[in-house]
Formats: sequence, C-alpha cells, structure tokens
Amino acid sequence: MIKPLNFSFIPKIAVAITVLTVSCAKYKSTTIDPLPNPRVVETSLQKEMPFPMGAAVNVGLLKSNANYRNLVIKEFNSLTAENAMKFASVHPGKDTYNWTDADYLVDFALSNGKRVHGHTLNWYKSLPDWVNNFQGNTADWENLLKTHIQTVVSHFKGKVVSWDVVNEAINEDGTFRNSIWVQKLGVDYIGRAFQYAHEADPSALLFYNDYGHEFGPTKRTAILNLVNDLKNKGIPIHGIGLQMHTRVTQSDSNLAAAITTAAATGLKVHLSEIDIALNPDNIQTLTYTPDLAAQQAAKYKSIVKTYNGIPKTQQFGITQWNVCDADSWILSNYNRPDWPLPFNSQYQRKVAYQGILDGIK
Ligand code: XIL
Repeated sequence: MIKPLNFSFIPKIAVAITVLTVSCAKYKSTTIDPLPNPRVVETSLQKEMPFPMGAAVNVGLLKSNANYRNLVIKEFNSLTAENAMKFASVHPGKDTYNWTDADYLVDFALSNGKRVHGHTLNWYKSLPDWVNNFQGNTADWENLLKTHIQTVVSHFKGKVVSWDVVNEAINEDGTFRNSIWVQKLGVDYIGRAFQYAHEADPSALLFYNDYGHEFGPTKRTAILNLVNDLKNKGIPIHGIGLQMHTRVTQSDSNLAAAITTAAATGLKVHLSEIDIALNPDNIQTLTYTPDLAAQQAAKYKSIVKTYNGIPKTQQFGITQWNVCDADSWILSNYNRPDWPLPFNSQYQRKVAYQGILDGIK
C-alpha cells in the first residue's frame, strides 16, 4: 500500500524560518502574522488592485536589504522617495546638487517597470542650513525657490511623472503655516511654485500634498479652498495628495469625507503616505494583538473601499509610507512601538494586507 505523503513538517519549517528570519525590527510582531491564507501568496498588491499601489522607499534599505528590495519589486508599481528628493538631500549647498540617492531610486524604479512620484519640491522641513540662513531680498528668495524647483524637475524630466509641489502649507486651524517661504514670499508663492514646476516639465502631474483631511472640516476646507483657488486661477495643478497618516481610532466617516471631498474637486486623488497607527497614545508597553490587527485590517478596508468608489480617472493610486512595520517613520518619529503598515517586521503580509484586498471586493 502506498503511504500517504506526510506534509506535517511544513508548518514546523515555516515556524523555523520565521524564527530564524533576521528581524529588521526593534519591536517584533507576534505570531499573528503572516496571513494564514495561502491563496494570496502568489499575488501582489500591484496585480490585485485596480489602481497603482506604491511605497515610500528608503534608498539605504533598498541598497542593503534584500528582503526589502524584493518585497518592493514584488508588491508595488509606484515608488516615492522617502527622503532622497527632499531639498536638503538634493540641494545641500547653494550651488551644490547631489543626485546620487535619488538617481539610484529612479533607476531602480524604471528598470523594474515602476512609476516614480516625486516628493517634494517645497516644504518647511528638510531644508538645509544654507536655506534657513539665507540672506537676501524678496527677489533673491524668489530666485532661490524657482531655481531649486526648476533644477530638480528638469533633472528628472521624463522619468518622474508627478510631483508633490507644495507639502503641508496649511495649519490645523485652517490658516497658512508661517513657513520660511510664507515669511519671505507671502502665500502667493504657492501658485508660483506650481507654475515653475510646470515650466520645467509641462507633462508632469502636479499635486498639493497635506495631512489631516480626515481630522474634520476646518483643515480640510482650508486645503480644498486653496486647491480650488489655484484651479480657478488657471494654475497648473492636477492632483491633491492626502497623506493619510491616520490611526485605527479614526472614524470611517471622517476618512470617507476626506476622500470624497477631495474627489469633488475633480482633481486626481493620491492617498500619498498612508499608514494606520495602532498606538496613537504612545503606550510604551503596548503589544500587537489579534484584536488590533483585525481593527487595522477593517480600517484599511474601509479606506480602500471609499477610494475605489471615486471616479477611475481620478484614482492616482495609494502609496504607503515605508515598507514594513520595522522601518516605519512612526516608530522613530514618535519613539514608540507601533505596527502601522500591511507588512510586519519580517516582511510578511499582515491581516491588514487582506484588508486592502477586501476593500475592492
Ligand atoms: C518623513 C520621513 O519618513 C522621515 O525619515 C524624515 O525624518 C522626516 O520626514 N509627511 C511627509 C513626509 O510629507 O515627507 C514625512 O517623511 C512624513 C510626514
């Protein structure tokens, strides 16, 4: 008699691999992940989803970590540089540009068939000292703004299809942030930033990017007013980026309002930096539980479902900010354990990954 094959060793091997996998994590996920459903193993976000799926990528990890690199190649078809295209990275001295990391990322993306979204031409953060200390009159500042934008956009022309032109210009109370740019140039610099980018690459899609659309109507309305005002003035703006650094306790109705009101502008909508924090109260002893994992999956599902409901032509895509939980900026920025992404610290799919897939059912 032929003995039936015994596959009982497979779970043991899987456990052994999990244990042996060198963690990139300070805070390891528990055995809740990976997803138990083998059906999804051969698929990927880029294959399953009806719009582009992206990640913000760290060039150091891309170069040094094969798990990271392979996951990026497999799962995503759109990439954003986490930091490599920011002002301080590419323009560290008045007459010095450093393209090394950004070019590496763009070459990696294009040779793997991925779209590149540029982030960001103008922000109040990540400025080099030479800008913060710059002495000059209004015309000198205008020239600095214009030169930076046009040099960066020209460098990547034909490779980077879209840009976050201005990032985070609005405060939570709906007023304009008193950034160095507003101090030196007034709020109308925002429109000119878009015009300068458009002059340098007329084919590039240009976005205004910000966070907190889901906080409530105050900030959201101010952002929408800004964007509509730019549109009405004939400024070349093509999209609105909703960062969506959100939390598991945020209500589905607030999240839906953020997405649908952005879509009502008629512009393309990019969920440009999504992550869903499980530990917004910074509890140092919090652990990742099946309950939290399920809540997070439901939240990803709800967001994706709403996004899938806006007109197809406006779906620029969904980009998660970072790749796996261990490299999420949330952990270092807020100095706490957290598990905000669809991949755990061992680069395995979490329950949240299934939540994303369920969002388009
Ligand atoms: C963050 C990066 O992830 C960090 O590595 C860096 O130290 C600070 O910036 N909103 C944005 C992103 O638009 O550029 C930020 O990225 C996260 C918040």
